[in-house]
Amino acid sequence: MGNSLFSVLCLSFLFWGICYSLSDHERDRIKNLPGQPTDVGFAQYSGYVTVNQQAGRALFYWLVEAPASRRAESRPLVLWLNGGPGCSSIAYGASEELGPFRIRSDGKNLYLNPYAWNTLANLLFLESPAGVGFSYSNTTSDLYNVGDQKTAEDAYTFLVEWFERFPQYKYRDFYIAGESYAGHYVPQLSQLVYERNKGIKNPVINFKGFLVGNAVTDDYHDYIGTFEYWWTHGLISDSTYKLLGLACDFGSSQHPSNYCIEALTLANKEQGHIDLYSIFTPTCNITSSPNRNLRGHYPWMSRAYDPCTERYSEVYYNRPEVQKALHANVSGVISYPWKTCSKIVYDNWGDSPLSMLPIYRELIAAGLRIWVFSGDTDGVVPLTATRRSIDALKLPTITNWYPWYDNGKVGGWSQIYKGLTLVTVTGAGHEVPLHRPRQAFILFRSFLENKPMPS
Ligand SMILES: *[C@@H]1O[C@H](CO)[C@@H](O)[C@H](O)[C@H]1NC(C)=O
Ligand SMILES: *[C@@H]1O[C@H](CO)[C@@H](O)[C@H](O)[C@H]1NC(C)=O
Ligand SMILES: *[C@@H]1O[C@H](CO)[C@@H](O)[C@H](O)[C@H]1NC(C)=O
Repeated sequence: MGNSLFSVLCLSFLFWGICYSLSDHERDRIKNLPGQPTDVGFAQYSGYVTVNQQAGRALFYWLVEAPASRRAESRPLVLWLNGGPGCSSIAYGASEELGPFRIRSDGKNLYLNPYAWNTLANLLFLESPAGVGFSYSNTTSDLYNVGDQKTAEDAYTFLVEWFERFPQYKYRDFYIAGESYAGHYVPQLSQLVYERNKGIKNPVINFKGFLVGNAVTDDYHDYIGTFEYWWTHGLISDSTYKLLGLACDFGSSQHPSNYCIEALTLANKEQGHIDLYSIFTPTCNITSSPNRNLRGHYPWMSRAYDPCTERYSEVYYNRPEVQKALHANVSGVISYPWKTCSKIVYDNWGDSPLSMLPIYRELIAAGLRIWVFSGDTDGVVPLTATRRSIDALKLPTITNWYPWYDNGKVGGWSQIYKGLTLVTVTGAGHEVPLHRPRQAFILFRSFLENKPMPS
């Protein structure tokens, strides 16, 4: 009798123990998002990882696994980051670009993205840093004390903790990807992971390489290439072109001088009411577009291909039942609404090194896989900016500039350097997977397979 009671207790203890370790990530499982199509065939998880206990700082993630039918367990893990600084990877990456669902204009229903990248990999979207989206801090000053270094450190802490919660991803091939100002986040986080893995034979975070698109890379070359793009596309006058070069080239893109801001304002006026993020596509109706003034002095942030799309996500992600399903903003801990981009984070951005090229050199020497892509109708971080920045690395060429094809049509061009592959996507604006979903999918597949773009 005593004996069997003991074994019951023991069993229940054991069972409870198993349940507890399972529940670490099981309690983050998303059962069903409001308005999502049924029977999607893949698993989703979301929730918080505390990155600083004392401050009460926690980052929000959303993991979208590959379909079980496509052997999710043997596919790599890819972390996706959007830029701003201050913009949400859930607003952009997950909901407009590579994620599985797009939001309907009613702000209630979701439909499937036929070119979602999660058919190829398990996707981890992170809202970073704290103050962006559902990521928050109980120490308000954290939102005013933001910059590149803290963002990278917190993201690294997030990863370490996240892999403990999802041990099935330990030792799995892991890549970091992103666009725009994530042109800083991605190499900086890659460098941290690489350096902290050094000397470890079989690292938990099995980091293999990175992928960036329309990425802020090197302020000097980016500026030259951006102004060149504006001028060659007829978006600014000859005199403003000259002025921009004098006023801005040697400064910081995140912290431009007043002289440079004046020149940029002039350029902005000359450009008129176009969508600089996608210069040949129509704009959203300005009179009903409240986000427009959110554009910073240098417009990395805020507007995308269809600014109306952003408004659908602001409706959807502010719905209490959506937040509940996502395990976000638990018991209303965040005092302000969810936004696609945080103006506070953007306006208070601190350290922002002028160049990522030293990190590129270090990681290229380490033999990591590095791909850089660019939508060639983006006027915010244009192709010419990227070409000039990559050119400054002076890498030997393996395969010279060539057109790549999709179904007999040119999808863009590519050049393979020693240690870096550059791919352009023709007709795509700042958010390549939004404008050219099929071409972006081919690009992602080629990156994962480490194969040149199809010629
Ligand atoms: C922030 O404060 C709330 C309320 O006290 C608490 O429930 C929550 O766990 C805190 N967040 C973190 C990350 O510590
Ligand atoms: C823009 O919206 C306003 C108000 O909703 C409307 O009256 C106007 O016709 C719209 N303009 C265009 C170009 O769609
Ligand atoms: C969090 O919840 C509170 C209370 O419902 C709400 O007022 C606030 O807008 C929400 N914030 C975010 C970021 O979701």
